[in-house]
Amino acid sequence: MAGADEAQEVVRCAYGCQDTTCNASNVSGDGAAGRSVRSYRPHGSLARVLYDKRKADEWLAAYDKRKWYRVDKSKIREDLLDLWIPLGTGPNADQPDKAAEIFLVRSAERSDSLPLQTWHSLARSALSWFISRTSINGLLGRGSMHVFSSEQFQKLMDASGFTGPWHSLVDLGAGDGATTAHVAHLFEKVYATDISPPMRWALAKRKFIVLDVERWHQEAGPFNVILCLNLLDRCDRPNTLLRLLRTSLAPGGRLVVALVLPFSPYVEVGERGNHKPSECLPVRGNGLETQIISLIDRIFAPIGLRCLVWSKLPYLCEGDLGQSYYFLDDVIFVLEAQPVSTRSCNFAVNDGVSLRRNF
Ligand SMILES: C[S@@+](CC[C@H](N)C(=O)[O-])C[C@H]1O[C@@H](n2cnc3c(N)ncnc32)[C@H](O)[C@@H]1O
Repeated sequence: MAGADEAQEVVRCAYGCQDTTCNASNVSGDGAAGRSVRSYRPHGSLARVLYDKRKADEWLAAYDKRKWYRVDKSKIREDLLDLWIPLGTGPNADQPDKAAEIFLVRSAERSDSLPLQTWHSLARSALSWFISRTSINGLLGRGSMHVFSSEQFQKLMDASGFTGPWHSLVDLGAGDGATTAHVAHLFEKVYATDISPPMRWALAKRKFIVLDVERWHQEAGPFNVILCLNLLDRCDRPNTLLRLLRTSLAPGGRLVVALVLPFSPYVEVGERGNHKPSECLPVRGNGLETQIISLIDRIFAPIGLRCLVWSKLPYLCEGDLGQSYYFLDDVIFVLEAQPVSTRSCNFAVNDGVSLRRNF
């Protein structure tokens, strides 16, 4: 699971053109706040860290959170706009809901605890020689993430016309199961997978049935609802996974995919060993809106996954000594399985092959 440090790295490097740059530059001392940080910076490393965190948190407090729930509608085709639903609250449905607010408050409290953050920092430095960041987070019980609340999930299901049965849910790449826990009570059986052993322990502790990462679709299923949240850009074979997702849905079932956009894959445990995926998901275009269209038209549709509803949310990650929390733009798609036409099939396969060659 992407931890605070990973989220920050993504914001700084891969998403340099987004609003979140201000966030990164604030922290690294390039923005307006950064200038004041340069002109006055306390002596002593701890004082400096605390001062920089205060500056970063001031920037977060002033950030217009309505942007988290909005898209530039002028850049989206009309037929796709019809599928968009807002997931924020308030009169314009563009404010964080209660669950997101609770996550932010808790995250700020934890990030302000000096003993806790010092312990995390020391343990991370020592453990990073042996295990992945996700596993370190799992062991330390830190770096929790928030995607959606139970109410937001039900809104997505309602808008997609899903009326049940609510027999089985599987959350693939579930991390510590924090998001799974928001929706688990709606289902009779809750399954989960994760490639990181400490995350699997965390999932088992929450009493979810943990399936094997390779054989999950043989061990159980088909499933009424499949969650694939922020996994396609973190797993080694996203194209293979998407095809499996389609065939593992029960009749009338729903697949919920969340993806951080702009797309920036980073694989912790993969065959290539260089953090690049073995299979390339052919997401086209640079901006968020262009990539949404590309995903719906060029990736989901050709393999028989029809988009019924989509929306946008912040992907929130617990903070650290750098700032109280981190956020990225997360786009959520609710999909249903459809028969695949021969033409679409060729298109998808050819696309995958031509892009694989480039890697
Ligand atoms: C960015 S985190 C997302 C966690 C959670 N789904 C969420 O949205 O907060 C990606 C997770 O996928 C896991 N992962 C990566 N490749 C995987 C695979 N092939 N199968 C299952 N889990 C995988 C990682 O260990 C990590 O916990």
